[in-house]
Amino acid sequence: MQTRRQGEGETPVSLSPCLLVCIIPSMPRHGTFLVLDGTEGSGKSTQARLLEQKLTGLGREVLLVRDPGTTRIGEQIRNILLDPAHGEMGMRCEMLLYMSARAQMMKEVLGPALDAGKVVICDRFVSSTLAYQLGGDGVTAEEIRAIGDVAIKGRWPDLTLILDLPVEKSLGRLKRPKDRIEQRPVAYHEQVRQNYLRQARENPQKYRVIDADRGVEEIAHDIWVEAGPLVS
Ligand SMILES: Nc1ncnc2c1ncn2[C@@H]1O[C@H](COP(=O)(O)OP(=O)(O)OP(=O)(O)O)[C@@H](O)[C@H]1O
Ligand SMILES: [Mg+2]
Repeated sequence: MQTRRQGEGETPVSLSPCLLVCIIPSMPRHGTFLVLDGTEGSGKSTQARLLEQKLTGLGREVLLVRDPGTTRIGEQIRNILLDPAHGEMGMRCEMLLYMSARAQMMKEVLGPALDAGKVVICDRFVSSTLAYQLGGDGVTAEEIRAIGDVAIKGRWPDLTLILDLPVEKSLGRLKRPKDRIEQRPVAYHEQVRQNYLRQARENPQKYRVIDADRGVEEIAHDIWVEAGPLVS
């Protein structure tokens, strides 16, 4: 019996417009990837929920996730990272664990959502590592970006919104017991804030700094001014 390879002996056909319309909905689309980031207690989760509500109200399909975490593996990595008992963790181990959690989240959750054309809101992302782990044990921004690129397969956010306010105010908003990272000295958190602001200065096309030392509604308004044009 003769077998026929795909395409062999077939009459070439051109796709009719009708056929194209049938095919396009199943092709990967590209959603919008938004990140909310900033120091501890700066209002990331509050604003992420408000943005999700706004977009859902407008009929958009939205996925809100937290980093590190969201996946089963990622949540376990989060627990390892934030456990105050793990004081011996080196900065390179810390950086790579964050990236591992992101790799899993991109594979399981973010990638499929972006392919399906959804709006993804991520509460922290690689921008956090560029703020918190930069300089620790000699870790450079180039290393973080290169390892991040591998972890997330080059799927960088469309826009990163940095919620900025003085460190004493953001730390003062935390009401629960501090995790391993939050327990670090105020001077460390000051440096983290400056690292966020420098990222934004260096990449103004992809970052916006939002004054987070204001009421929740005012901040939400400014976030919408920046993010709205990308999603509507
Ligand atoms: N604009 C604001 N003004 C005053 N308090 C706020 C404001 N936004 C959020 N809060 C309060 O500050 C606390 C921290 O807010 P939220 O959890 O949204 O911050 P976060 O950046 O997600 O914190 P974390 O770093 O712990 O994840 C909460 O109690 C929240 O209700
Ligand atoms: Mg939060």
